[in-house]
Amino acid sequence: MNIQLLKPKFEGEMSLEESIFNRKSIRSFKDKEIEIEKLSQLLWAAQGENLSKRTVPSAGAIYPIEIYVFLKKKGLYHYHYKKMLLKREIEENPNENILRQLAQYCLSQNFIYEAPLNLIICVNYPKITRGYGERGKRYALIEVGHCAQNVHLEAVALGLGSVPIGAFRDRKISQLLRLPEDLDPIYIIPIGYEK
Ligand SMILES: Cc1cc2nc3c(=O)[nH]c(=O)nc-3n(C[C@H](O)[C@H](O)[C@H](O)COP(=O)(O)O)c2cc1C
Repeated sequence: MNIQLLKPKFEGEMSLEESIFNRKSIRSFKDKEIEIEKLSQLLWAAQGENLSKRTVPSAGAIYPIEIYVFLKKKGLYHYHYKKMLLKREIEENPNENILRQLAQYCLSQNFIYEAPLNLIICVNYPKITRGYGERGKRYALIEVGHCAQNVHLEAVALGLGSVPIGAFRDRKISQLLRLPEDLDPIYIIPIGYEK
């Protein structure tokens, strides 16, 4: 089942400055789902629409980033920013326990398995190198940084915690999540309520 997300809110309980001040890496999560309002807000911060184009800048407005989320017990979803939709790509099931494997391929960082939500930032390198050549790779990674920071700050503003994960086995993650050939996973961000 796909998930229809809600429109973002532009007012919150925390100022941007407080959110920057409070941000830190959280590696222990409660067994508590993230509400649809907060899920919607996180995805919007990652790659949603804003007054200009999207919430994250992109070199030449090419937008090489694709966002996936793994919802514990539910499975893997691909974010469609225009429709504000999460399209299910893989259903989680007790036999496979994909989330456990995900944690394992992140060098057994087991808090990944605890988090109700893991956001996976992927890059389509061919899309950006077509215009910018090799330099496009640099631009794509810079954009991933913009995107991740938006997510971390939004998480804090929503009363959630997160941590950026860069240590994982790229090929294994791509195979496990059955990512399209032209996508590379760059960053994984577990998010949840701090334990
Ligand atoms: C590129 C990058 C990769 C990281 N990879 C991991 C990781 O694989 N596992 C982890 O627990 N933390 C990871 N971190 C988080 C850092 O350990 C953390 O940001 C640092 O210790 C500073 O702490 P703070 O985030 O609480 O300010 C990563 C951070 C960055 C910027």
